[in-house]
Amino acid sequence: MPSGYLLASLAMLVLAPVSLAAWVLAAAAVQLGARRRVLAVCGAVPLVLGVVVVGPRMGAAASLAGAQVLGAAGTGAVPAWGLLGPLAGWFGRWALLTAPVGVPAGMVAAAVPPSRSALPAPEWEARERRAADRAEARTRKRATKRADREGADPRSNALAVSLGGMVASWRIGELVVPPPGQLGLAWLLVGAPGAGKTTAQYRLGYLAGLERRHLVVIDAKGGHDGLARGMVAAYLAAWSEARVRLFPTERLDIWRGDPQAVVNRLVEVWDWTAESSYWRESAMTALRLALGQPGPPCRSGAELVRRLDPAALERAWEHDPAALGLIRRMSQGKNNELGGVHIRVGNLVAALSGALDGEASWEDADCWIVTVPAMVASRDADSALRVLLSDYGHFTMARKQAGQPSLLMVDEFSAIAGGRRSAIDLLERGRGANAGVVLAGQSAVALGNEEERARLLAAASCILLFRTPQPAELAALAGTTREAEGAWSFDPSDPEPGRVTITTRAKARIDQDAVRQLPTGEADLIVRGVAERIRIIQTKPEAIAKARGLTELCAPAPARPVGDRELPAPSSPPQGQAAPRSPSASLDPAPPPRVRRHRPPVPGGAAGASPTTDRHNQEGQP
Ligand SMILES: Nc1ncnc2c1ncn2[C@@H]1O[C@H](COP(=O)(O)OP(=O)(O)OP(=O)(O)O)[C@@H](O)[C@H]1O
Ligand SMILES: [Mg+2]
Repeated sequence: MPSGYLLASLAMLVLAPVSLAAWVLAAAAVQLGARRRVLAVCGAVPLVLGVVVVGPRMGAAASLAGAQVLGAAGTGAVPAWGLLGPLAGWFGRWALLTAPVGVPAGMVAAAVPPSRSALPAPEWEARERRAADRAEARTRKRATKRADREGADPRSNALAVSLGGMVASWRIGELVVPPPGQLGLAWLLVGAPGAGKTTAQYRLGYLAGLERRHLVVIDAKGGHDGLARGMVAAYLAAWSEARVRLFPTERLDIWRGDPQAVVNRLVEVWDWTAESSYWRESAMTALRLALGQPGPPCRSGAELVRRLDPAALERAWEHDPAALGLIRRMSQGKNNELGGVHIRVGNLVAALSGALDGEASWEDADCWIVTVPAMVASRDADSALRVLLSDYGHFTMARKQAGQPSLLMVDEFSAIAGGRRSAIDLLERGRGANAGVVLAGQSAVALGNEEERARLLAAASCILLFRTPQPAELAALAGTTREAEGAWSFDPSDPEPGRVTITTRAKARIDQDAVRQLPTGEADLIVRGVAERIRIIQTKPEAIAKARGLTELCAPAPARPVGDRELPAPSSPPQGQAAPRSPSASLDPAPPPRVRRHRPPVPGGAAGASPTTDRHNQEGQP
């Protein structure tokens, strides 16, 4: 049985010979990246026009030639080879005449997708493997180039470039753009050292800046890898007017809120087991008495230590017999609870040496970078972090304006043993307050013990899985897909397979071996049970500043075809007291960048997404 390609080639050779050459050229263009759909449209329109214009002349020429050939052949006056010359001449004229139809017909033919064999290709075939490797290398190269361009583009709001997958709700063309509000949800970034987690966080910081989202970054590595500098540069690249503050270079004020809020924050400093709940109650009572006493609010650690002195507490509450009784029972009983709390707080205040008695707090800057010297003085750093995270929690829930977007990022989550509980609480509760949390760690185990891991995985709205030697637990979250699998049986005397059996099986969407070998900067994005391989865009603050400067000098800038909406209006102006402005990354504030927007899914429309994408899951989501 002749193949469809052979029959089509013969028909094209006879009907419009030029179409064969056009077919070959258009097929080469498809190989080089031309879109079949575009080719089909560009071919079909001139094809119809060509048929209308030259169709009648083609019909007349064909019938005349037919009559001449049949007439000559019938007389026998001319030998068969004598016909070749006129026939060749006629063929040339015919090719020219039919060219207006042949060229578009060839384009349309090249646009027809190849029929897929029902049999899966045997994976051991070297040709198959080579073709797959070549295709992968081409896709990677293209994605890397695109990511380089996007990283330097001041108008880009993309997180990454897609290398293929099913997270259609994040994809705009070949770019991966977090849907609106996604930075207000929970993210987990997991990957081996050097896999690209920090670079991804810079990009998220840049995206937060674009949204005018308040940002707090906890650098639990102690500033060894220059995270603060990279993050500030990325944030300012998006928002050159943002106010940035660094801790501990600048001290933080953790004494804001009512006395009860400060008590809750301070009590977080110590680990309390179920058995020590009595001591927890005692500490809370003592702190409440010290912080809630009549008079001005407590503004520093040293003052709190002074207030916790039993004699001072008694003086402050001498008008209140009930409180006085409580203080005496706590200071004169056999347990001397007040003395215990006094010592603990004194120790803490000495360790922090005023770092938390500053004038500024979270609301006084658009971006705070908190560098925790975790590896140097781990216990003190741990205490500071517990208080800071607890205070940040109070800021997101009670002090920031309703709806003001915020984002907390923790690089090296495993290093913040103390603040882990607060961070997990924030991650679980932040959604309602539009406060997102991004936690980065080197492995799933680094996310905490089994219970903490389970809580994090349950609350995470998306996971970026970078190269890691143990991807099993996270890769499983992307679920499975059904795939055809072939089994070939061989006759010992015949190298060709005799029988092929096809079965469909559930296959993991994320191949764990592929995750173990991922190049730096690539990750699997896991969202609602589906996955997409992506190349993270590395933000290039200098190039962005330069581009912005040039754009301003050469205004008006040429419009870009991709932008179809303006950024959401910058959120409420930064609150709180005035703070010194950080150095601007460009000459003038940039005009609001134009960004790509997700279009709502077309009901019943193909929209380029396969039915197994997550697009339908997206419906009804905020
Ligand atoms: N998306 C990317 N594009 C280009 N280069 C990248 C990308 N991601 C990472 N790199 C390169 O890899 C280097 C290491 O990346 P990064 O610091 O982000 O890794 P990490 O996972 O944070 O490592 P660690 O766990 O040690 O902190 C970067 O300095 C950068 O040069
Ligand atoms: Mg890092």
